[in-house]
Amino acid sequence: MKKTINTFKEAKLNGDKVTMLTAYDYSTAKIMEEAGVDSILVGDSLGNVMLGYEDTISVTMEDMIHHCRAVARGAKNTLVVCDMPFMSYQTSVYDAVVNAGRLMKEGRANAVKLEGGRVVKDHIKAITDASIPVCAHLGLTPQSINAFGGYKVQAKEEEAAKRLIEDCFIVQEAGAFAVVLECVPSALAEYITSKLDITTIGIGAGNGCDGQVLVYADMLGMFTDYKPKFVKHFANVYDVMKSGIEGYINEVKSKSYPAVEHTYKIDQDIMEKLKK
Ligand code: KIV
Ligand code: NA
Repeated sequence: MKKTINTFKEAKLNGDKVTMLTAYDYSTAKIMEEAGVDSILVGDSLGNVMLGYEDTISVTMEDMIHHCRAVARGAKNTLVVCDMPFMSYQTSVYDAVVNAGRLMKEGRANAVKLEGGRVVKDHIKAITDASIPVCAHLGLTPQSINAFGGYKVQAKEEEAAKRLIEDCFIVQEAGAFAVVLECVPSALAEYITSKLDITTIGIGAGNGCDGQVLVYADMLGMFTDYKPKFVKHFANVYDVMKSGIEGYINEVKSKSYPAVEHTYKIDQDIMEKLKK
């Protein structure tokens, strides 16, 4: 059965956790669906993970559509959420609806995600009114990196924590079906989760959220340049890939690959004629 936003609603009512992971391509999305993840996020972290940028600022609508289509083809029965890239919704409510619509029509997303609270309240409402489910994103919102001046834990001070709580209610009221809480103290995230009707999905927000999300390259130990405190390596894909690639290099150099079983045959008589 296809996982939808109702899967999230039911899980919250039953007290079950929801799982979300990022993916940016067909093959990875297929593995995730087969493993049974509830939701795949085509995050604009694709800028970092797939495209090698230092932040998410340069990611375009075309990038997101291109990768979201691939994920949607690989995970037909999983809720696919696509990030709205920087400046695809901040500019106006109109832009927000048009671009959310493109992510759904062209990218085949089942829902979109955007960053911010009160500032994007009207945007969330308008997109939701267009029958496009919206996931909000609060706390550390990476598209605001230049305004924040660095990646750090959010809402530790009383005023900021109060503002975060208000923003959570604002996005719920505007129609969001879920909210990602990134890098916020776990006690605060747990409190917010207990007060909200919609699903909270934590990343660096502790165990008290309704669900969790991680960047797949981080949690599989594929990307190891740095490891934020909240990341756990559930596998060591970097080592697996590296040793596989080294094995290939060694066997090609030593002429042991390809072996006979990897090759195609031609009739000996034809070869004899060709050589004449
Ligand atoms: O882009 C992304 O991967 C995200 C998650 C970290 C929540 O927004
Ligand atoms: Na993102």
